[in-house]
Amino acid sequence: MSVQISPSILSADFARLADEAKAVEGADWLHVDVMDNHFVPNLTLGLPVVESLRKATGTPLDCHLMIEDPDRWAPAYVEAGASSVTFHAEAARAPVRIAREIRHKGARASMALRPATPIEPYEDLLPELDMLLIMTIEPGFGGQPFLDIMLPKIRRTRALIDKHGLELWLQVDGGVSAETIERCAEAGADNFVAGTAVYGADDPAAAVRALREQAAAVHRH
Ligand code: DX5
Ligand code: ZN
Repeated sequence: MSVQISPSILSADFARLADEAKAVEGADWLHVDVMDNHFVPNLTLGLPVVESLRKATGTPLDCHLMIEDPDRWAPAYVEAGASSVTFHAEAARAPVRIAREIRHKGARASMALRPATPIEPYEDLLPELDMLLIMTIEPGFGGQPFLDIMLPKIRRTRALIDKHGLELWLQVDGGVSAETIERCAEAGADNFVAGTAVYGADDPAAAVRALREQAAAVHRH
């Protein structure tokens, strides 16, 4: 299991997105939070900004859609330049169809679960996905404290992935920091989103390296 870090530009300066993207070019992904003020009580950015980010950085874009009607919108994010598109299980009408469309268009398909959404009903869908995102906060805002109560769900998800022998990445998003990343890695996460912990640091690139090293040390043991 190799560790991947996906800094969230939600915590960056939105007036300087190109520079902020370049500041973390050692990261595996750039996490782009799309919010529509309906699925979550916050509004961020959409397709035109993703298109511009694609041109501004060589880092692949990991788009996290916190929007209603992902059935309609998810494929367009692949066309806009996302290499991975995550839709929410709670908002999807036909998750298998969405995942297949994302893959068909050439990106990695990923599904996210809010804290109150269990993994078990989705066990049979896991082969359709390239990544599963377990929210470790209520989605909508950066800077919230990590929810330790999500650790059992991360463990159960890792067990299901192993049981089926899947090459599925397990991403955690929300409150991931130097204080919490080891707990997430121990529970079985291998892809870590971090907003405040990266962009709140004096040296974002160094923060990415430090987080990666912490998580990798857990996986080595
Ligand atoms: C919130 C977003 C997160 C957010 C995480 O709904 O999905 O990606 O940026 O921010 P931190 O790392 O500060 O919790
Ligand atoms: Zn996110």
